[in-house]
Amino acid sequence: MSIIDAKIEPNNNDKESIKMNIKDILSEKVSAAMVAAGLPEGTNPAVSLSNRPNFGDYQANGVMGAAKKLKTNPRELATKVVAALNLDGIASKIELAGPGFINIHLDEKWLATQLNMVAQDTHLGVRQRGVNVDDKQQTVVVDYSAPNLAKEMHVGHLRSTIIGDAVVRALEFRGDKVIRQNHMGDWGTQFGMLIAHLSDKLASEEVAETALSDLENFYREAKVRFDNEEGFADRARADVVKLQSGDAHCAKLWQQFIDISIAHSEEIYAKLNVSLQRSDIMGESAYNDDLSRVVDELMAKEIAEESQGAKVVFIDEMASKDGEPSVFIVQKSGGGFLYATTDLSACRYRSDKLAADRIIIFTDARQALHFKQVEIVARKAGFLPENVSYQHCPFGMMMGDDGKPFKTRTGGTIKLAELLDEAVLRASDLIKEKNPEISDADLAEISNKVGIGAVKFADLSKNRTSDYIFNWKTMLSFEGATAPYLQYAYSRIQSIFSKPEAKEAQIVTALLGNTVINIIEPQEKALALKLLQLEDVIDAVISECTPNLLCNYLYELASLYMSFYEACPILKEGISDEVKVSRLALCQVIANTLKQGLDILGIEVMDRM
Ligand code: ARG
Repeated sequence: MSIIDAKIEPNNNDKESIKMNIKDILSEKVSAAMVAAGLPEGTNPAVSLSNRPNFGDYQANGVMGAAKKLKTNPRELATKVVAALNLDGIASKIELAGPGFINIHLDEKWLATQLNMVAQDTHLGVRQRGVNVDDKQQTVVVDYSAPNLAKEMHVGHLRSTIIGDAVVRALEFRGDKVIRQNHMGDWGTQFGMLIAHLSDKLASEEVAETALSDLENFYREAKVRFDNEEGFADRARADVVKLQSGDAHCAKLWQQFIDISIAHSEEIYAKLNVSLQRSDIMGESAYNDDLSRVVDELMAKEIAEESQGAKVVFIDEMASKDGEPSVFIVQKSGGGFLYATTDLSACRYRSDKLAADRIIIFTDARQALHFKQVEIVARKAGFLPENVSYQHCPFGMMMGDDGKPFKTRTGGTIKLAELLDEAVLRASDLIKEKNPEISDADLAEISNKVGIGAVKFADLSKNRTSDYIFNWKTMLSFEGATAPYLQYAYSRIQSIFSKPEAKEAQIVTALLGNTVINIIEPQEKALALKLLQLEDVIDAVISECTPNLLCNYLYELASLYMSFYEACPILKEGISDEVKVSRLALCQVIANTLKQGLDILGIEVMDRM
């Protein structure tokens, strides 16, 4: 129970939209002033946060660009804009600087009013598309995780799974309609060898669950037989053909294999706290029946042509330096279809059946060329209308301490399940060291949240497209931009609320009016400015699919809180009730924002740690 809960009826932001986004408010005002100063309607006011406090809190830099276009003196134009700019009650000072920068110093009272509105809003001031009339809700198809079911999920799938899930949650928080698509690799020639091997195992009275308890082993055994055992490879090939033509026995074996493999993935999803459900699975096999139609259409529209027995699209738009077109095979000479064909079919399904406005796909950067080809061909074929955006979001690799791709000591791939177990174990050691009295139940819960959170945050906080070095020590540190640091900041706030003086203050709060938060100290102002930026941060995360921006934001927020806590006593004797209540309310908004932000990243918090 918090003092906010005690006094204010939460408003869930579903009435007329109250604007709490400072950048939006200022942009509107500056735009109006620009028009009044004679600039054409729609001129970009270019409002942004100032990077130095002596340049104000926000800047409007749009005049320079506009003056350049009109070939007039920017300083003169800016003077006119400033004269027309009405920020009464919003800004305490407006300055003209340099060739035409407009520096805006916000009024602390106004900031406090804005922040009090955020404090009362269950959605923390972030408007929801579809709820707010001025913003159109989009249908966004997000293709992520997508492990290959022939093998166990490994670290390579971690990034797709957690980055995709963070973006999905951010989109949903902003009000978009998200359709998750887990494009699992559940089809292809290797399944012939796997079902042939499974068939033999079952014949020798092993049950499928035991045979497939270690998919990595199972795959290896099957591969050894495929390479060495006489007749096995032929059987495997025959089984693929049978499977694809709907043979009941092969289909049953395949289904058993797939079900068990999916269950392995689901265990990981549960451990990782990601939101993927079984109903989000739309594996490669689901497109099987459509593939011949896709190729027929490409042939009929003369987009694909026959080349050495295969069906191929030569993509001139992606020609090499010496003019050779890029080659995109859609059907092999033997008649088999490919990963590429499936992705073309998926484009059509997503734009036609799922009515996507936007399609986002998360895979590692090595598939960038593939998705570029898919997009060009799908657009040509009309599988992907111009108004549907198609965004492949590549990510870099996870590296070991040696700077090489992350592997086990013996050079094998690291299984995700084992990595996550290790994270929890390491977190448990750390927490026990800090708090030897902790109960077993608390220890288990906290180490799970901290361990998994640490792995996720370390990954999500990196620039998406770069490779990064996986390091246990830094990710589990209680200092720096880490999950434990943020979780600790959150629980530290909770510990304030559990103090008897805070409880007392709640009673006082109930007696006060609606306005609780006052901004007195610079640390409080810095926090107010930061807290009022949440919507902008979420928007940046969803437009470029960059959860690292949210990670940075939360880290900065937690750091500002730590400085505030050092500088501004909250419950100390001699602090007036008004200040006590104001600071407690500020703490509450910070805690709510940390919790909400971490929730978008799929990281849990706890009251004590
Ligand atoms: N299963 C693929 C892999 O592990 C990723 C699939 C991504 N999605 C897609 N539509 N191709 O590399």
